[in-house]
Amino acid sequence: MKALIPAAGHGTRFAPFTKLVPKEMLPIGARPAIALIVDEAIEAGADEVVIITSPEKPLLKKWFEIEPPKVKITWVDQIEQHGLGHAVLQAANLFCEKDDKVLILLGDALVSGGCASKAMVERSEALGGVAVIGVEEVPLEKVSRYGIMKVEGDYVVDMVEKPSVDEAPSRLAVAGRYLLPVKIFEYLKTQTPGKGGEIQLTDSIKRMISDGTKLAPYVYPGKRQDIGNPDGYYAALTAFRGECKS
Ligand code: G1P
Repeated sequence: MKALIPAAGHGTRFAPFTKLVPKEMLPIGARPAIALIVDEAIEAGADEVVIITSPEKPLLKKWFEIEPPKVKITWVDQIEQHGLGHAVLQAANLFCEKDDKVLILLGDALVSGGCASKAMVERSEALGGVAVIGVEEVPLEKVSRYGIMKVEGDYVVDMVEKPSVDEAPSRLAVAGRYLLPVKIFEYLKTQTPGKGGEIQLTDSIKRMISDGTKLAPYVYPGKRQDIGNPDGYYAALTAFRGECKS
C-alpha cells in the first residue's frame, strides 16, 4: 500500500514562523512532525510514502537525509497551490489500479494515543475492503472549519466542505485520515473548484460515493492534534509528552 502525505501548504495559520520553517518541521520531542506521520503510515503497512511538498520547503527532504526513512519516500513538488484536492492530484501518475487504495494522512494532523491509520486499514479489511474515512464529532460552532458528512446506516451518503451551521448535515467532521480507492484520482482530474475557489478533496469523495462507492465513517483511536496553528501545537506537545520515541 502507498501512503500520501500532502505537505505543501503555506502554513498561514502559523505565520510568521512558517515563513522560515514549514509547520511539518515543528518539533515533537527531538523529531519533526513529518517523521511521526511517516511512522504512522509505516505502522499501517505502507511500503511507499509519497510526500507532496513545495520547492520552498527543502527542510522536509533534508530531514530524511539525517534520519534515513524505513520506507521508500517519493517526493512530488506542488508548484501552484489550489487546495487539498489539487495537492493530492499531483501524485496521480504514481498510482495505478493495482495499488487498489491510497492512504492519505494530512501533514498538519498528528494523532496522539493510537495509530489511526493502522486501525483504519483493519477496519476496511473487516468490512470487506471498503473505503474508510476518519471522523470526529465537532461542536456546531466549528463545523465551518471541516469537511462535514451525512451518515445513513453504516455509510457516508453526503459530504460538504466547510459548511455554515445552517448548511451542515451533521457535526461529523473529516479528521485528517482517508483510506480511499485509487479511482479518487479520476474524480480529482475532473473536479471543478469548490469552497474558497479551491479543488476540494471532499467534493471528489462526494461524487465518488454518489456513484456508488461505499465509504465507512470511522472514529479512529487516538486524538487528532492540529499543529497548523500555535494553540493546536501546544496541545500536541502536551499530548505527545511521554509518548514520543525520542
Ligand atoms: C482539510 C479538509 C477538511 C478536513 C480538515 C481536517 O481542511 O479539507 O475536509 O475536515 O482538513 O482534517 P484544512 O484544515 O486543510 O483547511
